[in-house]
Amino acid sequence: MKDLEQGRIEAELASLEPGVTRPIIVHHVTTSTNDDARRAAAEGAPHGAVFLAEEQTRGRGRSGHAWHSPPGENLYLSVVLRPRVEPEVLPPLALVLGLVVARVVDEALGSDVEQAGIKWPNDVLVDGKKVSGLLVESSFRGGKIDAVVAGIGLNVHTASFPDELEARATSLQKLGARQLDRSALAARLLVGIDRAIEPFVREGVRPFQAELARRDVLFGVPVEVADVRGVGAGIDASGNLLLRNEAGAVVRVGSGSVTALGPFATLGAGVSATSG
Ligand code: BTN
Repeated sequence: MKDLEQGRIEAELASLEPGVTRPIIVHHVTTSTNDDARRAAAEGAPHGAVFLAEEQTRGRGRSGHAWHSPPGENLYLSVVLRPRVEPEVLPPLALVLGLVVARVVDEALGSDVEQAGIKWPNDVLVDGKKVSGLLVESSFRGGKIDAVVAGIGLNVHTASFPDELEARATSLQKLGARQLDRSALAARLLVGIDRAIEPFVREGVRPFQAELARRDVLFGVPVEVADVRGVGAGIDASGNLLLRNEAGAVVRVGSGSVTALGPFATLGAGVSATSG
């Protein structure tokens, strides 16, 4: 597909965010756009600099997992951020950026209702299958955040996944999206990130909590995180996953990979449960 080009991303950005410029680097092939962005950040790349590639040879996800990165099909995008926050405020940034991706996915699907869900802490799902994952990596200097690299993998054109992924992965094309232009999608993601960072820096997760509750696909779902088992009970104002354990107590989980032990919740489950 020839739908990913630096000039096209710039043109899309100019129409969405006139006057804002940033370095945009599109590689044909790279190991990982997160590596490119981290290297550039260490050399002084400014807030907003973005690295994309047609293909990643060592695309990676959380917990050392590989990220399926075939050539020409999907978005592999990493943006350098320099938020002025204390390190302990950072962990829920992936959740907030997940909301940005979810909005872009909904827009691409052209649906009036929210369809993209968030699986804490970093996955975006539609119809129970993962369409996007986020990998946020930070570097520190003198105990302060020097740079944050937010890596986003968004499955766009992939028509069939390797056997081991087929049952749990999807793409915008498989979902019948009407927007499949990777340059336009990249520009929308970048503008969304720009708009989310300021409220996140000022107030953390709080401005995003209502939307997180609506999109939380773990609400009411039995799950396991490391050795903790419980039923999803929402996401708190600090971005922790809440689980109700067998004894009825609510346990906070700050990090980890979640295994759902039942079907994902339909969107809005958490909201109706808490408001009704
Ligand atoms: C996950 O679901 O575990 C996170 C996946 C993150 C994948 C993206 S693709 C762009 C960037 N480069 C990488 O190597 N990883 C992230």
